[in-house]
Amino acid sequence: MPTNHRLLLAARPTGIPGPENFTADAVPARTPGAGEVLLETLYLSIDPAMRSWMNESAAYNQRISLGEVMRGGGIARVLESRAENFVPGNLVQARLGWQTHPTIAGRYLQKLDLALGTVEDWIGPLGLSAVTAYFGLRDIGGLRPNDRVLVSAAAGGVGQIVVQIARIEGCRVVGIAGGMEKCAFVAGELGADAVIDYKAEKDLSAAIARACPEGVDLYFDNVGGPTLDAALEHLRLNARVVLCGRISQTHAAEPYGVRNLGRLAAARGRMQGFLVFNYHERYDEARTWLAARLRDGSLQQRLHVLDGLEQAPIGLGKLFRSENTGKLVVRLSEVPGPR
Ligand SMILES: NC(=O)c1ccc[n+]([C@@H]2O[C@H](COP(=O)([O-])OP(=O)(O)OC[C@H]3O[C@@H](n4cnc5c(N)ncnc54)[C@H](OP(=O)(O)O)[C@@H]3O)[C@@H](O)[C@H]2O)c1
Repeated sequence: MPTNHRLLLAARPTGIPGPENFTADAVPARTPGAGEVLLETLYLSIDPAMRSWMNESAAYNQRISLGEVMRGGGIARVLESRAENFVPGNLVQARLGWQTHPTIAGRYLQKLDLALGTVEDWIGPLGLSAVTAYFGLRDIGGLRPNDRVLVSAAAGGVGQIVVQIARIEGCRVVGIAGGMEKCAFVAGELGADAVIDYKAEKDLSAAIARACPEGVDLYFDNVGGPTLDAALEHLRLNARVVLCGRISQTHAAEPYGVRNLGRLAAARGRMQGFLVFNYHERYDEARTWLAARLRDGSLQQRLHVLDGLEQAPIGLGKLFRSENTGKLVVRLSEVPGPR
């Protein structure tokens, strides 16, 4: 049996997480029992939500216990199977955990449909960040052609796809991102109509006023805190605010109190949060739509790839330091040819 290299939660973080919060070990991979498969992890997706699962205060069904393998989704190859419908070589998606050789029940695995895209597409523009953008914009945001859309963390995993879906649907899109390089990417490669480098602006609200002179019909919020407050000042009548994430607040010692809710009321607007997992039964719908745009060349996703399991905690910290340039993933093994 191969050796299973694992990263276990060792200490709950204060502030930004890093390698100090984990211990590494190596154990023999577990032989699959009836209905189970032994996997080799190829890619892990690194997501901001992981930071909240590490908190003692996280909901009981989300909290990761000390000593537990860090939770995380990714893509793997089947090495050995005692589950119906799976054979060695199959490529699957699952909640694998931060480990090289998990053994998991077949009922928790989804086979990759390689007709829709490559393995890299499945961790990127067909992955959960992209699916989040799809449902957030459509179901929560009620996206309509000609909407004036504003999105924060526009160069990130979810944000990139938000910019492009809104553009494809005929909206005017403005992205907020940190730094010249990310802003050039959002305007150039993703095709946003305007960008705001929030790190270079002293007054974000004034910058939004310049970039969105007619105001905002749909604000897709990945950041929360003062960015949300600034966006609320520019809502048009019947605006929608999609609360996708609040990365500026996830690790804050003192949460920021949003002040401009009065502007939501004045705009007769609606603000709604969501979790992509609730759309599980409709993932195929999103992926079919996204795959068609990948094929016709109107959609892309930049990946930020780190190599090696030990990079996973470093990658998680990068998200909160704005050090990722694209959807952050960790590659554990070379991707084999399709099966
Ligand atoms: N609702 C759901 O089901 C769901 C699912 C997936 C993700 N999400 C949320 O979606 C958001 C984006 O996730 P992602 O995986 O795509 O990450 P990401 O955008 O690829 O990476 C995080 C980005 O957030 C920005 N950021 C970090 N700290 C910030 C701060 N203090 N102020 C402003 N911006 C900051 C940085 O971009 P800049 O360089 O531009 O600052 C950073 O690159 C997160 O809030 C996440 O929790 C929600």
